[in-house]
Amino acid sequence: MSDSDTIRSAFLSELNKITSLSDLENVKIRYLGRKGEINTFLSKLKNIQPNERKKVGLKVNELKKEIKKRLEERKVSLLLRQEKELKIDVTLPGFKYPRGGLHPVTIAIEEVAKIFEKIGFIHLSYPEVEWEYYAFESLNMPDGHPARDDFETFFIDSKPHPKLGQMLLTPHTSSGQNREMKRLKKPPIRMINIARCYRPNWDVTHVPMFYQFEGLCVDERINLTHLKGTLDYFVKEFFGAKREARVRPFHFQFTEPSFEVDVSCGACFGKGTVSGEKCRVCKSGWLELGGAGMVHPFVLKEGDIDPKKYSGFAFGWGVERVFMMKEDFKLDDLRTMYSGDVRFLEQF
Ligand code: PHE
Repeated sequence: MSDSDTIRSAFLSELNKITSLSDLENVKIRYLGRKGEINTFLSKLKNIQPNERKKVGLKVNELKKEIKKRLEERKVSLLLRQEKELKIDVTLPGFKYPRGGLHPVTIAIEEVAKIFEKIGFIHLSYPEVEWEYYAFESLNMPDGHPARDDFETFFIDSKPHPKLGQMLLTPHTSSGQNREMKRLKKPPIRMINIARCYRPNWDVTHVPMFYQFEGLCVDERINLTHLKGTLDYFVKEFFGAKREARVRPFHFQFTEPSFEVDVSCGACFGKGTVSGEKCRVCKSGWLELGGAGMVHPFVLKEGDIDPKKYSGFAFGWGVERVFMMKEDFKLDDLRTMYSGDVRFLEQF
């Protein structure tokens, strides 16, 4: 059995071989660390005859102190030597440190939030792990309603909530609408909910986790012109003064009337052709942004808001999508956005 003298002489010979601070750190760990020589030895003390134990224990503790002291001295001498050897050549050119940057999606989120904050919308992030009630029921899509199929959903395999139903990964930021109505209790509401959403799609134009931003405005006498004005404002702020917004009739269970919103293409400005040739960025001069509409009275009622007194509008679009449309680039594969490839990321 190795006694403390053996440990001591092994230590001394290792101490002599130390030439750098990292060597020193290693030796320190090997002897004084939690599973180091000293502790291992101490843990074996119980096997020694009781009358011997005290003596051996004292000796090991002495050794521990000595090791600590010697390592400290060695450290000081290493640092002094380093200082002497370090000569700085001030004529050498400087070293440029590589700079990190924000991810394009983060840049887009910050920009969208800022644009809406300027017109009084508060920026929130409602849960991505959500209850069925907020994602569907509260939005006029009761259990079994076929409209739910449009929002293919990841359900979580857990016990359902007695009132709120199954737990799920929210397929859209509209699930924040009812939450915001209930949080504020009373209009005016102006919120921009930017959060993660999930749908089980994985192809060149879809990733299973993406971001949406949801606008919700509820107040007395809110009408369609307020919606259109807000869309125009956003499009000009985000895409540039030359771009236009247009709405087309559509259907959602939670808005009435409902629309799809398009933005004029940044390459051909709505014409669909560039110097006589078919535009390569868009199909017909317009790019599809996403959904919008006037909040359905059912949704207001479900949020404890009187639809006779108040009305509102809502819209919900994908962050990655608007970002790509702004840059006027056609990303062959949207998944590149989340590949973590710095060659792609460095461009922004
Ligand atoms: N939640 C809808 C979607 O994900 C978009 C939408 C939001 C439509 C708000 C109308 C109003 O497709």
